[in-house]
Amino acid sequence: MDSRATVVILAAGLGTRMKSRQAKVLHQAGGRKLIEHTVDTALQIASPERVFVVVGHQADKVRDAVGGRGVKFIEQMEQKGTGHAVTSGRAVLSQLGGLLIIYYGDCPLIPADVLRALVEKQSQSNDAGTIVTAMLDDPTGYGRVIRDAKGSVQAVVEQRAGTPEQLAIREGNVGIYCFQAEAFWKHSGELRPNNPAREYYLTDMVELLVRAGHAIGALRAQHPADLMGINNRLELAAADRTFRDRKVRELMIDGVTIQKPETVSVDAQARIGIDTVIEPFAQILGSTVIGENCHIGAGSIVRDSTLADDVEVHAFSSIDASRLESGARVGPYARLRMGAHVEPGAHVGNFVELKKTRLGAGAKAMHLAYLGDAAIGAGVNIGAGTITCNYDGIAKHPTHIGKGAFVGSNSTLVAPVEIGEGAYLGAGSVITEGVPADALALGRARQLNKDGWARKRREKTQKEPLNNR
Ligand code: UD1
Ligand code: MG
Repeated sequence: MDSRATVVILAAGLGTRMKSRQAKVLHQAGGRKLIEHTVDTALQIASPERVFVVVGHQADKVRDAVGGRGVKFIEQMEQKGTGHAVTSGRAVLSQLGGLLIIYYGDCPLIPADVLRALVEKQSQSNDAGTIVTAMLDDPTGYGRVIRDAKGSVQAVVEQRAGTPEQLAIREGNVGIYCFQAEAFWKHSGELRPNNPAREYYLTDMVELLVRAGHAIGALRAQHPADLMGINNRLELAAADRTFRDRKVRELMIDGVTIQKPETVSVDAQARIGIDTVIEPFAQILGSTVIGENCHIGAGSIVRDSTLADDVEVHAFSSIDASRLESGARVGPYARLRMGAHVEPGAHVGNFVELKKTRLGAGAKAMHLAYLGDAAIGAGVNIGAGTITCNYDGIAKHPTHIGKGAFVGSNSTLVAPVEIGEGAYLGAGSVITEGVPADALALGRARQLNKDGWARKRREKTQKEPLNNR
């Protein structure tokens, strides 16, 4: 690719039609912000120091969203139109020469191949610029491409400024441009806001350059659906669907079984190994990596987590920032979060929550438990209803349970506390002190049986008249 191509992405607008307090390019589709998608596409054809994002509305947030990628920013203080957005960067951009590629931050689906084809076409011509156009069934809202009798591009006319004849044209300006930088900067000062919106339109550059005696080429897009700008929430949902659809198709082609794929959401960065089965309505989000031959149950949500091979997550489990090793079994209705770590072959059952807790190899916590800030050894059995009391109202404290220990049902472990290997905790114990290895700990009141008490009570109440009850 031409190392002298500069990419400018316009992202300073608020996006009035989104009816949002958040700048349009910060909205998400396919699990990422629109601006992340558009910048990542640019980075496929240009190095970061040649990619400029024009920011204005919520500039800091837009910078934060993509700053880590090393791209540059141009501040557009007041949003006076798309032409004004580009010329806001004149001081820096006009020094760079070569080709100037411009597109909008609200077009997240643009394939890098279209940019490559555009640069290729422009590089092989003497035209001052090339624009991407598409034949649209409904071009409402798009700039219309005006051609002369010979078919040469003369101008782009905006919806709000077009005559009825112009608005009847179905060839739309999709909003991706490649100019010869020199010609662009020579004439960009001639842009005027002489239109109903009083904006400096980037699209007017086409007519300005043609008037100056240059030719402008057009690249007709094959798949216009990929080039749509997002202006409202309906279009946002459509783009999200496209990303989701692409991702699940890709995964299925690569050997992942996805049941009712139209209900499953997988974020772009997530990776899933072959022979894994994903049930309906599952969500695989963020940087999740799932190994081979795993099973993700219906309605489960797995975010930023790592699952080795042969892991089973049963229905309606929520797994966040956690690690499950091979053969681990979790759910249904399990919640794992903040660095939970389930070692090989360990089982976490229904209504069990693990927070910052390591459950050792082969250990089991099958029912109704809260295990927080705990290190639990291999082969430990955690009875139903066990709770680690990790918080004393001021600070969090750890619980250690040695390997092979048995924690009876409904035990309460008041942290910090350490249970030795192979120890046995009687059911219902409140454990406030350490338990030595192989000991039995009973932390509950001794049982008292009163012979005949229940029978005597029954007899007494039966003798009393009804109105005394
Ligand atoms: C624009 C084009 C139109 C094209 C359509 C394709 C113009 C004048 N019109 O219209 O021909 O068919 O895209 O999607 O260019 N922005 C700024 N600063 C501003 C104004 C806008 O940075 O002062 C940014 C916005 O943040 C947005 C992008 O430019 O990301 C496009 O603006 P938008 O208002 O969506 O333009 P459209 O009306 O869609
Ligand atoms: Mg738009």
